[in-house]
Amino acid sequence: MGRDGKVVTMSQESQLTTALAEAAATAGHAPSLHNTQPWRWRVLPDALELRTVADRQLTATDPEGRLLAISCGAALHHARLALAAEGWRAVVERMPDPADRELLARLTTLTRVTADPDAMRMVQCMQIRHTDRRPVSDEPVPTAAIGEITRAVTTEGGRLQILDGDQVLELAAAAGHADTVEAEDPQLRAELAYWTSRAGTGTGLPPEVLPEQPPQTTVPARDFGHPGGLPIGPGHDRAAVYAMLYGDEDEPDSWLRAGEALSAAWLTATRLGVSLVPLSSVVEVEGTRQSLRHLLAGLGFPYLVLRLGIADPTHAGPPHTPRLTTEQVIDTTAVRGERG
Ligand SMILES: Cc1cc2nc3c(=O)[nH]c(=O)nc-3n(C[C@H](O)[C@H](O)[C@H](O)COP(=O)(O)O)c2cc1C
Repeated sequence: MGRDGKVVTMSQESQLTTALAEAAATAGHAPSLHNTQPWRWRVLPDALELRTVADRQLTATDPEGRLLAISCGAALHHARLALAAEGWRAVVERMPDPADRELLARLTTLTRVTADPDAMRMVQCMQIRHTDRRPVSDEPVPTAAIGEITRAVTTEGGRLQILDGDQVLELAAAAGHADTVEAEDPQLRAELAYWTSRAGTGTGLPPEVLPEQPPQTTVPARDFGHPGGLPIGPGHDRAAVYAMLYGDEDEPDSWLRAGEALSAAWLTATRLGVSLVPLSSVVEVEGTRQSLRHLLAGLGFPYLVLRLGIADPTHAGPPHTPRLTTEQVIDTTAVRGERG
């Protein structure tokens, strides 16, 4: 018997738990701060739970867990799309238990619907989406693409402000200052060093995805503290568009939704051939996050800065960043023996 009293046959139950486990596995493609993948999924007979993993929070860089919740929100959006692509509609309960803050979301009341072709396309985009930290080419980002990416954000309840020339200069100053503050803080340096020396663990950033030398751009990209192995080529950020993802509240459930909006924006950008790179040092440092608030003229709270651009089409980009195995992120003990 299902929770709502409807009789559910054994094979339907196993179909559902298989779909839930596969959605959780697909969500493993989601982006996360320093590739921490700070989530764990629990497959239940009639629901899927998303929990944070406190061990993978960057306690110095992200003490409030803002970027952790954004990362988990991206994974949640990936799982929602994976279910829709397989013909399942789910009710999403965000932060369902005030007494259990690690339980971020529960996907529940699953019903069979027609598989959604848009969601299928987005699932394909998940397999190819990646962070390309090279400077962008001089090809402008089409205005229509900016419009679609902005709509993807608003559909998920977020907001995106495209920065004008003066605001980009303010952002550049803030990003430079944030890098200096972070480089001078031994705890932040140690955290960055830890997450950039995790070869073979399925987490963190391998050298191949980090630039060989700092790109000479107007808005400085994050300084990873040491050179990587990614050739950066001749690009700049003259044709890049900088945008701020923001919202009305500065609370964990709004950060989770911001992550869902980030995922929607990034997958849409991937579909349109637009490279998206989040820049988060400016929101990690309290002073520069306040500068960004000022830049928003009190319209809301900044969550993340995004660089949009067209990647160099003539040179290969970075490889995919490794991930944890499904066994490490998905707990299926509650449905053992039930999965088909
Ligand atoms: C909340 C958040 C903040 C991020 N901040 C940065 C950043 O400041 N600089 C950067 O180069 N990448 C940033 N990233 C990208 C991650 O490093 C990247 O998603 C992760 O390493 C996984 O790699 P992939 O996106 O290629 O799959 C961020 C991602 C998220 C979700």
